[in-house]
Amino acid sequence: MKLLITGGAGFIGSNFIHYILGKYPDYKIVNLDKLTYCGNLDNLKEVENNPNYKFIKGDICDKEKVTEIFENEKPDFIIHFAAETHVDRSILDPYAFIKTNVLGTHILLETAKKFGIERFLHISTDETYGSIENGKFKEEDILMPNSPYSASKASSDLLARSYFKTFSLPIIITRSSNNYGPYEYPEKVIPLFISNILEGKKVPLYGTGKNIRDWIFVLDNCEGIDTVLHNGEIGEIYNIGGGNEKTNLELTKIILNELGKDESQIEYVEDRLGHDFRYALDIEKAKKIGWEPKHSFEEAMKKTIAWYLENKDWWRKLKQEEFGKYYEKQYGER
Ligand code: NAD
Ligand code: TYD
Repeated sequence: MKLLITGGAGFIGSNFIHYILGKYPDYKIVNLDKLTYCGNLDNLKEVENNPNYKFIKGDICDKEKVTEIFENEKPDFIIHFAAETHVDRSILDPYAFIKTNVLGTHILLETAKKFGIERFLHISTDETYGSIENGKFKEEDILMPNSPYSASKASSDLLARSYFKTFSLPIIITRSSNNYGPYEYPEKVIPLFISNILEGKKVPLYGTGKNIRDWIFVLDNCEGIDTVLHNGEIGEIYNIGGGNEKTNLELTKIILNELGKDESQIEYVEDRLGHDFRYALDIEKAKKIGWEPKHSFEEAMKKTIAWYLENKDWWRKLKQEEFGKYYEKQYGER
């Protein structure tokens, strides 16, 4: 079985590659990644010499490159993670989000249609549904995305679905909630706050801190994607949620407490534009095909914080590079 993974040098993609190579010794992986500021081959050092793993640097928007990969590698499955992923950056500059998330996905869909594929798993997000005050989103709910990021992800999600309906391309879609774990780029709230505290800096909490996210440990999502890939029904959508709803303030206090700090480290800053209040997913459909999250939030958060403590060089390097410029633009001098 050969898997073409796009965006495998990012946070979830690299965790998924480690997971698959560990679980299926006879699976071959081709990782196509552009290595944007978020793509990091340090995440894959342990597998770079694995004979079942191959890295190809390339852009999903490059039709010729994608065609060449399909011709040469003849993948059985695609798991499409590659995307621009940070909401705040999509507010500052949406263009790259439209290009990669919409046009790049379209090139993959077209190429898969031309060459044929057994399964095309499109990785979508709970953010495509928009925000929900009460209750939980089900797969058939309407998509009401609120940021340029989530609108571009909703567009790619719907494009993928249309290729199933119109061309019978074997699409399956997962929509997961907010992931946490090792290898997450330190612009996202959990690694940003952990690393800021370790650097003796304050943590910038948006607005009131009352916005709610449903957190899932990244390995639970990897198992969810694996289950959907093997047991999911073609043409269907599966929510992959962690069932751990926390306000951002609650989450911040957990991190501060674990690192022996108090609330004086919090700096309340201007709210994110269009900030979604709450995400929550109904996961009954994924449960029916044999998946549910296994990790307890408390244990997995401790493990995650310990990982960032043990791997300071990993995030320090990233914070010194491109991130510095972005951080200044986003938060000003601090
Ligand atoms: P990430 O930003 O850490 O990684 C994205 C990867 O895609 C990087 O390696 C980057 O180099 C690569 N990439 C970007 N543009 C590319 C292009 N044009 N061609 C080839 N490669 C390109 O993202 P992540 O957090 O790992 O998210 C992976 C996927 O999961 C995304 O599709 C995201 O929308 C989705 N998702 C993420 C979360 C989350 O909490 N992180 C939740 C739900 C869904
Ligand atoms: P983030 O990690 O960017 O994920 P997403 O926006 O995709 O959910 O943000 C998670 C939550 O944390 C979100 O409600 C915004 C908030 N947040 C802050 O309060 N401060 C920050 O510096 C960041 C990056 C996020």
